[in-house]
Amino acid sequence: MSILVTGGCGFIGSNLVYHLLSKGAHVVNLDCMSYNSRTPDIPDESEYVFIQKNLRDADILKILIDHNIQYVYHLAAQTHVDLSFRNSVHFSRDNVVGTHNLLEAVCKYGKCKRFVHMSTDEVYGQVFDNVSETAIMNPTNPYAATKCGAEMLVRAYGHSYGLQYVIARGNNVYGPRQYPDKLIPIFLNKMFKGEPCEIHGDGNAQRHFVFVMDVCEALEAMMSSGTPGEVYNIASPDEFSVNQIFDILKMVTGSTSEKVNVSDRPYNDQRYHIDCSKLIELGWAPKVTWKNGLTETITWYREHGATYWHSKPRWLMYGARGWIGQKYCSIAAEHVELIHGKARANCPEAIRAEMDAVCAEHVVCIIGRTHGPGCGTIDWLEQPGHLRYNVRDNLFAPFVLATECHRRGIKMTYMGTGCIFKFTDEQKIFTEEDLPNFFGSSYSIVKGFTDQMMKLYPDTVLNCRIRMPISSDRSPRNFITKITTYEKICSMPNSMTVLEEILPIMVDMALNERTGTYNMTNPGLISHNEILEMYREIVDPDFTWKNFSQEEQLKILAADRSNNELTTDKLQTLYPRLRPIRQAVRETLLSSGGTQCQRSKVPKHS
Ligand SMILES: NC(=O)c1ccc[n+]([C@@H]2O[C@H](COP(=O)([O-])OP(=O)(O)OC[C@H]3O[C@@H](n4cnc5c(N)ncnc54)[C@H](O)[C@@H]3O)[C@@H](O)[C@H]2O)c1
Repeated sequence: MSILVTGGCGFIGSNLVYHLLSKGAHVVNLDCMSYNSRTPDIPDESEYVFIQKNLRDADILKILIDHNIQYVYHLAAQTHVDLSFRNSVHFSRDNVVGTHNLLEAVCKYGKCKRFVHMSTDEVYGQVFDNVSETAIMNPTNPYAATKCGAEMLVRAYGHSYGLQYVIARGNNVYGPRQYPDKLIPIFLNKMFKGEPCEIHGDGNAQRHFVFVMDVCEALEAMMSSGTPGEVYNIASPDEFSVNQIFDILKMVTGSTSEKVNVSDRPYNDQRYHIDCSKLIELGWAPKVTWKNGLTETITWYREHGATYWHSKPRWLMYGARGWIGQKYCSIAAEHVELIHGKARANCPEAIRAEMDAVCAEHVVCIIGRTHGPGCGTIDWLEQPGHLRYNVRDNLFAPFVLATECHRRGIKMTYMGTGCIFKFTDEQKIFTEEDLPNFFGSSYSIVKGFTDQMMKLYPDTVLNCRIRMPISSDRSPRNFITKITTYEKICSMPNSMTVLEEILPIMVDMALNERTGTYNMTNPGLISHNEILEMYREIVDPDFTWKNFSQEEQLKILAADRSNNELTTDKLQTLYPRLRPIRQAVRETLLSSGGTQCQRSKVPKHS
C-alpha cells in the first residue's frame, strides 16, 4: 500500500508516518519543513521516502506517478493561529493554494483510491452545544478561514472530478512532537525551567484535547471505512480551560512557574464543543485516557523538549553575498542556522512573506550600496540618477527590515557606518548619541538619516557603525588593499574597524540580544601613513607612496570623505579586551603571513 502523507514532518503528520510504517505501509512524506517541523527519524528507509517541497510549487503529479500513490493523507498546513493574525496571506498560500495544487495533481493522476483531508474544529467558529458535522462553517480567525477555503476546494473536487475524499475536523490535539508554540508544550517547556507562563486574556477559553495516537487511528478509520464525501468530527471528552491546563501541568510537573496574563488574540473563540458520534459509528473510540496521554507527553518533553526541533537559533540574513556579509556568515554559521534572504529588502510585501515563511529569531541586514558598475567607490552614488539607488538600498531597504522586525518583536542587526561625522574645531570625537555632522557625500547624507532611523527602534535594532573596514584578505574592498593601490594618499588619522575582531563581537552581541547603537571600531586613531609604514615593514619592503593634501584630493574625487574618531567606551564596557587599532592592524598584517594586500589593480580613490 503506497501512501502520500503531506505535512509528515509536523506534529500529527510525523506521528502518523510512524504509525503507518509500523503497519507495513510504504510512505512518501511531502513537507516543506517550516520552522516547527522535524523529519521523522526512520532508521530503515526501505519503505519511507521524504521529499522536501512546498505543495504550492512541487511537481506533485510526478511524485504521485513515481511512487504509485494509492492513498493520500493531507495534513500539511500552517497551523499557528497567532501567526495567522500577522500574515494571513501566507496562510492562504500554503493552506489554500497548496491544497488546490495537490487536488489538481491528484485528479490528473486519477489513481488515488481515497483522499483524507485533515481540517479543524475551528471551521465552526465558537460553538457551545455539541454540534454535528452539518453545522454551518463560521470561521473567526484567518487560520480557520484558510482551513474552510481548503475544505471547500476538496468538496468541489469531489463533486466536479469524483475525488473520493473524507474530511476530518479535529479538536485540539496533544502529545509528543508538538512544536512548543502550542499551549501544552509551551507551558511544559516553561515549567521545566520555572519560567512564567503567558495566559492570553483571562484564560477561561475552553478547549477539548485529543491524544495524537487517537487522531492517527481516527484518520485511519476514515481512510478504510469512511463514506466518501462525508465529514467526521474527531472529538474528546477531555475539556479544560487554559487556566485549568496551567494548574494541572503545574501540579503534575511540580513546577514553581507563575501565570502572567497578557493581552488576548484579536479574537479568541471560547469553546469548540463538537459531537463525534458519526466517527464512533465507524468503530473508532479514543483509547488513550487524559491521564495516560499527559504522562506520555510530559515524559517525552522532559527528554526531548529543549533540543528536538533545532539546536541552533534560526537567523535570516540579507546581504550574505557581499564582502563583509560573507565574512559575517562564516562566523555566525558556527552558532546559528543562517537562512539567506531571497526577497529584495526594498519590497515590503516580499519581505513580510519571507519572514513569515522562515520564522527567524533574528534578522541581519548587511546590505547597502557603496559602489556600482564602472566605479568602485562611493563616487558612483554621486553620478546622475543614482540618488534613487542610494536611498533605496542604503535607507529604504534597511528601514523596511527594521520596521518589520519591530512589528514582530524580533531583533535585527544593522550594519551601518561611522562615516557620518567629521572632525571640527569644536568636536574631535563622536559618541553614539551624537547627531551626524558630515554631509560631504550623498552616501554619508543618506547613511546619516538611516543611522537616525535605526535609533527609532532602540529595543529591536542593534545599530553597528563600522568605519574603513580592514581585514587580512586581498579583497579590493579591504581598506589596506585600497590605499596600497592609490597613486597618492591623503593621510588623516581615523577610527577604523578590523573585521576579524569586530564581526565576531557583532555576532556575539546579536546572540546576547543586545540592541541600541554602538560605534564598532577599534579604540584609538590610525592614519593612512601609519598603515602604509606597517605595510612596508611587514609585507613589502620596497613599497613607496606619495602623499597629497586634502584640497588636492578633493579635486580628483566626486565627493568629500569623512574623517573622524568614534568613542569606543560603550563597546569596551562589554568587550574590554578589544585591541587598540594600531595593534589590531599590525597583527592583521602579520597574520596574513606578509602576503596580503600585494599591489593589485583597484580603480580610483576611496
Ligand atoms: N494540532 C492540532 O491541535 C490540530 C487540530 C485540528 C486540526 N489540525 C490540522 O492537522 C494538520 C496537522 O497539524 P499539526 O498540528 O501537525 O501541524 P504542524 O504545524 O505541526 O505541521 C504541519 C506541517 O505541514 C507542513 N506544511 C505547511 N504548509 C505546507 C505546504 N504548503 N507544503 C508542504 N508542507 C507544508 C509544515 O512544514 C509542517 O511540518 C493541519 O492541517 C491542522 O490544520 C491540527
